[in-house]
Amino acid sequence: MSDIALQQQIMPRIQLDRIVPMAVTTWFSIAAVGHWIFCVYIVAAFFPPIAENGMQGLKGMHLPSGFNEGDFIGNIAAISHVLLASIIIGGGPLQLIPAVRNRFPRFHRVLGRCYLVAAVTSALVGLYMTWTRSAIGDVISHIGISGDAVLILVCALMAVRHAMARRFVEHRRWALRLFLVASAVWFSRVGLMGWVMLTGGVGVDFKTFTGPFLYFLGFANYLLPLGMLQWYFHCQQGAAPWVKSAFVVSLGLLTIYMAVGIFAATMGLWLPRM
Ligand code: HEM
Repeated sequence: MSDIALQQQIMPRIQLDRIVPMAVTTWFSIAAVGHWIFCVYIVAAFFPPIAENGMQGLKGMHLPSGFNEGDFIGNIAAISHVLLASIIIGGGPLQLIPAVRNRFPRFHRVLGRCYLVAAVTSALVGLYMTWTRSAIGDVISHIGISGDAVLILVCALMAVRHAMARRFVEHRRWALRLFLVASAVWFSRVGLMGWVMLTGGVGVDFKTFTGPFLYFLGFANYLLPLGMLQWYFHCQQGAAPWVKSAFVVSLGLLTIYMAVGIFAATMGLWLPRM
């Protein structure tokens, strides 16, 4: 084979190998900004009322079941759930930035432990709230979010086990899965608001917060990101060029949808009302 023919065969592959990480970095950069906007909202909306009025602060919050008179455990659960959310949503993307990991390894370790404890506690508390006091959705939505809680527990356990055994490649894979499932609540807000902006809310009953699209989203908000991550791992392990191209196109479309959703969620949910 001539040098030119060989070059023509190798060049597209080399470019694809560059385009896959570029697509992932673009997706991550936009997702990180979206996470931090949600984190600022969480801190601004939930911290001041709790700091000023303790448990009574729940009364004025945008929580579906908020403050329940006499339900001490439920109210504590709701408070801890929203406070821990700031560590999960704000800290998750920070853990994945290589520059932060390499330049501040101690910070990475401390935040990693806090993140893990926050995600596990929040999942357990979330399960408790969902099945004892949640005022939104129905049994299908409850099963959807409970599936996420179970996956958070599984991914956290696997990430810790591999870290303790110093199997860092496997640890990294489970930590990435943990990030995605612990961010499912973020994906669901962004997914819903993007859908409302693009379709006006087809398949959503806003009164009962049920409907075909919400049932789909209730599972897709963690299964779709997990599936995309698995596909990315496959691309990293030398998948066929067409598999990598299909990955880049799919992730590109999902990134555009996510950017629309972040914009809609920021404008509709997270910016303060004037
Ligand atoms: C671990 C990641 C999670 C984060 C960061 C998170 C974050 C939040 C936030 C910020 C809220 C307040 C509502 C809002 O402003 O949007 C909330 C409410 C709620 N979350 Fe989660 N959540 C997580 C996981 C879960 C899980 C796994 C479940 C269920 C199994 C769950 C069940 C609930 C329930 C029932 C409420 C409503 C509380 C009430 O009205 O009293 N969450 N969550």
